[in-house]
Amino acid sequence: MPQPQTGQYSLATGEAAVRRLNLLHKTYGPGGRNLLLQAGLKPGMQAADLGCGVGATTRGLAEMVGPTGRVTGVDVSAPQIEQAGQACAAAGHTNVTFVEASAAATGLPRNSFDLVYCRFLLLHLVDPADCLREMRELLKPGGILAIEDGDLTSAGSLPPGPQNSFADLFGRLGPTRGLDYAMANSLVPLVAAAGFPEPNLQLNQPVALRGEDRYLLNWSVKEAAPAFVAEGLLTQAEMDATIDAMDKESRDGNSVILMPRMFQVWARKP
Ligand SMILES: C[S@@+](CC[C@H](N)C(=O)[O-])C[C@H]1O[C@@H](n2cnc3c(N)ncnc32)[C@H](O)[C@@H]1O
Repeated sequence: MPQPQTGQYSLATGEAAVRRLNLLHKTYGPGGRNLLLQAGLKPGMQAADLGCGVGATTRGLAEMVGPTGRVTGVDVSAPQIEQAGQACAAAGHTNVTFVEASAAATGLPRNSFDLVYCRFLLLHLVDPADCLREMRELLKPGGILAIEDGDLTSAGSLPPGPQNSFADLFGRLGPTRGLDYAMANSLVPLVAAAGFPEPNLQLNQPVALRGEDRYLLNWSVKEAAPAFVAEGLLTQAEMDATIDAMDKESRDGNSVILMPRMFQVWARKP
């Protein structure tokens, strides 16, 4: 069996990622839009979306900057870029370009973007400071940094139930891969240390009471199940039982499901 590498991404990519990332966008999209408006995103701006996944955030940015603006989506995964390109074309966006590259070395022109954004990216990186350095270099002087990153250990349900396995499993998986899925708690000092004085912070913790929204934590645990088992966090039989219990709570339960608390940070490059 291939050995997991430090920093290895443990969730699905390509077509298999589309359903979960679209639900994630339904959950976090409205809060993200508020953040971008508050941070100062305007029509006509040049924006970059690092770790763009299947392009849900990129499409949102494309709508917000409008036909006179441009958005560049960057992801290290070719299957993600392919899905993102297809979805953008289907939505009729002509102001978007996608680039397959590491978020820490995008190859994009320096000092050229009005806004650089990422969502649920930094927690997947061994060295988030490296990516922040790149984001700063891409921005024009006075340009806007906007970041959304969730603390995966803050998710669960009220009252506590099977959904709490999400926080437990991701919390324990991170260190086995050199990652900290709760790094969002340190986002403000990290951003300040990257050369963005006086970063702003607000928190967004969506809840799910009904319908498909109740499945986001389950689907995430299902996607990462091979990683949890490969790292010896639980046996395959225990994994199957955990997924069954989470599915049952989502389907039949009356609990309040708490999504990971999202740290929304924005700042300007001096
Ligand atoms: C959880 S997904 C989030 C996607 C999108 N930002 C969203 O919120 O819908 C994280 C994405 O980061 C990408 N990624 C992971 N490591 C990366 C790296 N070093 N450089 C660029 N992208 C990376 C993954 O391929 C994946 O598409």
